[in-house]
Amino acid sequence: MVYAISTEEYQQFRRLIYDESGIELGDQKQTLVASRLSNRLRELGLKTFSDYYGQVVEDPSREEFTRLLDLISTNKTDFFREPKHFEFLRDRILPELAQEKRVRIWSSACSTGEEPYTIAMTLFEHARNPDQWDFKILASDLSTRVLAKAAAGTYGEDRFRDVPPEVLRRHFLRGRGNSAGFFKVKPHLAAVIQFRRLNLMDSEFPIKSPLDLIFCRNVMIYFDRPTQETLVNKFHRYLKPGKYLFIGHSESLQWVNHTFKSLAPTIYQKEC
Ligand SMILES: C[S@@+](CC[C@H](N)C(=O)[O-])C[C@H]1O[C@@H](n2cnc3c(N)ncnc32)[C@H](O)[C@@H]1O
Repeated sequence: MVYAISTEEYQQFRRLIYDESGIELGDQKQTLVASRLSNRLRELGLKTFSDYYGQVVEDPSREEFTRLLDLISTNKTDFFREPKHFEFLRDRILPELAQEKRVRIWSSACSTGEEPYTIAMTLFEHARNPDQWDFKILASDLSTRVLAKAAAGTYGEDRFRDVPPEVLRRHFLRGRGNSAGFFKVKPHLAAVIQFRRLNLMDSEFPIKSPLDLIFCRNVMIYFDRPTQETLVNKFHRYLKPGKYLFIGHSESLQWVNHTFKSLAPTIYQKEC
């Protein structure tokens, strides 16, 4: 059963979610919010959305707030989603870095981990002598629930339909017995990824060495233009000159003020 939410209650949640995560729900998502949050109200034995709002804002641990954002955010992702970006990584970025053999990448809204594991598979598959390279991928998201799944690195077989079988075999272990039908990431792949909760709304990120590449795909679509602009200009600070930002295929920076050079519709380069 979906609990009734008044327009006033909806606007309260909308503002709270926007202030914390940058996600702009607009006026149309009232029913969606009610349906995503109703189970939680039931679990907590609450009767109204106002009661739940009170619980969220008064929780000093902020755990309920994290829970709320987990329920609201959309986490859809896939291995090798939008494959042109991985081709660009293979064909342009890896050859550029072949001398120094050091790669620093940030998957900044990584959801359940398919994106950073795809990046890592691309690096191991296409760097010459990958053992001699120094790969590091920071994979972050706002949602602790998706990050836990990402860090566990275990996925059902059906998730790998876009991964060539020999690539899957090299980087994931097939489960047996109780784990039949699942694959678990192999240690060499897991070792190059660090998972961490980061909010893209933060004014600074704990990133010390300048990056070669930032993935920020399929999240900016939920942000309004000023939020996108602030974020893209923050990303600019963390990239090495000449290096790259990837955004999602349904996203565009056309209306956003920025100093990146546009190389392709979703690939941007920081000027040297
Ligand atoms: C649709 S998924 C995109 C996953 C992946 N990048 C892809 O393209 O397949 C969007 C992710 O953005 C995360 N997200 C939303 N707001 C965020 C914020 N303010 N900071 C960090 N992550 C956020 C959500 O938790 C969700 O996992």
